[in-house]
Amino acid sequence: MRAVLVGPPGAGKGTQAQILASELSIPKVSTGDIFRANVSGGTELGRTAKSYMDRGDLVPDEVTNEMVRGRLAEEDAREGFLLDGFPRNVPQAETLDSMLKDMGTALDAVLELKVDEEEVVKRLSGRRSCRECGRVYHLDYDPPEADGVCDACGGELYQRDDDREEVIRHRLEVYREQTEPLVAYYRDKGVLVAIGATGAVEDVTARAIAALRSDA
Ligand code: AP5
Ligand code: ZN
Repeated sequence: MRAVLVGPPGAGKGTQAQILASELSIPKVSTGDIFRANVSGGTELGRTAKSYMDRGDLVPDEVTNEMVRGRLAEEDAREGFLLDGFPRNVPQAETLDSMLKDMGTALDAVLELKVDEEEVVKRLSGRRSCRECGRVYHLDYDPPEADGVCDACGGELYQRDDDREEVIRHRLEVYREQTEPLVAYYRDKGVLVAIGATGAVEDVTARAIAALRSDA
């Protein structure tokens, strides 16, 4: 299956992508995670991306598109993938369509995660992530057993630089202006499925799997 997750910052794309990729046996391709790995690794790509990410702006399309093109050409993505955080605007969606066309294939489904803004702000301000394995927690909804320490690997938990209130507000504006038009774009192509993404993580996963299976 070749699928895309779309939804506002904090909708739970990363949380669901991790679970769904494992359930569906396809790799998760998260542009945000790839950028963050490059920032912490101090690469040139990371240095380019960091200033945009810290402000909550999109990294320029030419940088992002080339990064995704390289990732989708890797062996493990040949038979399918779940994209999280890409595409993020209509030009990126058009680039993805043409990349897939060149590979003789197309998207099977685009899953929209719907959550209201108040919930998103709560989710992002309580989010903590593991520096070592990337597991995502929430101080109230999914707290670690020991303060500041990852249950899975013992790594240190940190708060993302872009999860400060004023940056969250800006990311939401960027979502409304640049990313939300993708919903109509994919609806017109007949591949959009939408689910409510509030409630327990496992309930959202069950809705997501049912929606993806019904579409595939
Ligand atoms: P990216 O990392 O993609 O950030 P985002 O889209 O803003 O999404 P988030 O990671 O903030 O949220 P999420 O939906 O994954 O939620 P999560 O599962 O963590 O991008 C970051 C930056 O990179 C961008 O601003 C941009 O600069 C750059 N970038 C990335 N892709 C790009 C692209 N294509 N083009 C250009 N630039 C790009 O969940 C959030 C919290 O809620 C967690 O604490 C979690 O535990 C909790 N939670 C999850 N589900 C539930 C639930 N059901 N109930 C209660 N809590 C829940
Ligand atoms: Zn960890």
